[in-house]
Amino acid sequence: MATKVKSQQNAEIIADKNSLKIPNHVGIIMDGNGRWAQARGKVRSFGHKAGSDNVDRIVTYAFDEVGVKTLTLYAFSAENWARPQEEVDELMRLLEVYFKKFIKKVISNDVRLFVMGDLSKLSDKLQKIIIDGMEITKNNLSHTLNIAINYGGRQEIVYAVNKLINEGKEITVDSISSALYTAPFGEPDLIIRTGGELRLSNFMLYQGAYSELYFTPVLWPDFDEKEFDNAVIEFSARNRRYGKI
Ligand code: FPP
Repeated sequence: MATKVKSQQNAEIIADKNSLKIPNHVGIIMDGNGRWAQARGKVRSFGHKAGSDNVDRIVTYAFDEVGVKTLTLYAFSAENWARPQEEVDELMRLLEVYFKKFIKKVISNDVRLFVMGDLSKLSDKLQKIIIDGMEITKNNLSHTLNIAINYGGRQEIVYAVNKLINEGKEITVDSISSALYTAPFGEPDLIIRTGGELRLSNFMLYQGAYSELYFTPVLWPDFDEKEFDNAVIEFSARNRRYGKI
């Protein structure tokens, strides 16, 4: 009952966007697919499929209803290759299916697709789908959907610094920012982690320096519109000082 009342209140609050500070850029660490499946007596891949379906739900909600401009989703970390081959294969398959579907919808939405990470380790087929998707959507300006694949925050910093060195540029806080994958759309205002763990797991380490962090025990496939509202409401109540008083 209490949950229902809270959810109704949240729906009213979110409907009145003027009363809330809406984060421009939200990063999400989508954790808990495996446990969600195990709780149902299913294999982990079943959870990843449910997690993939939830990506659609949250992307649509965040862009169309809440007014978030950029979403960065942590889909596959540079460390996830160490998972059983069967699970890695299923995640790659789900990504392929997702991007194909995304590209088909391009005409009806105004979302730019961006993929960040070291893509060279992905199959040629997946690389091509990603490159085509980024090219086809590059002039969509309303929203950016940024998917992190074979991504690590430390690796990204190393990549950015090497890029600057190769270009003979000075290494400064700003020059590193401008060489990160996220340079075109900037830093996340809010980072959400589902699944109950209280850590960043190598996600946007440089860009997240002043991001507000929101942790919830809710497993990713169960993280619905109401849960997203809760994160935005909490963000809206935070006082961002960036080290000042
Ligand atoms: C973490 O849950 C989740 C992942 C490693 C993969 C996230 C992938 C998806 C949500 C689906 C594909 C993505 C897109 C963009 C279509 P876990 O497996 O570590 O869960 P656990 O902590 O319960 O074991």
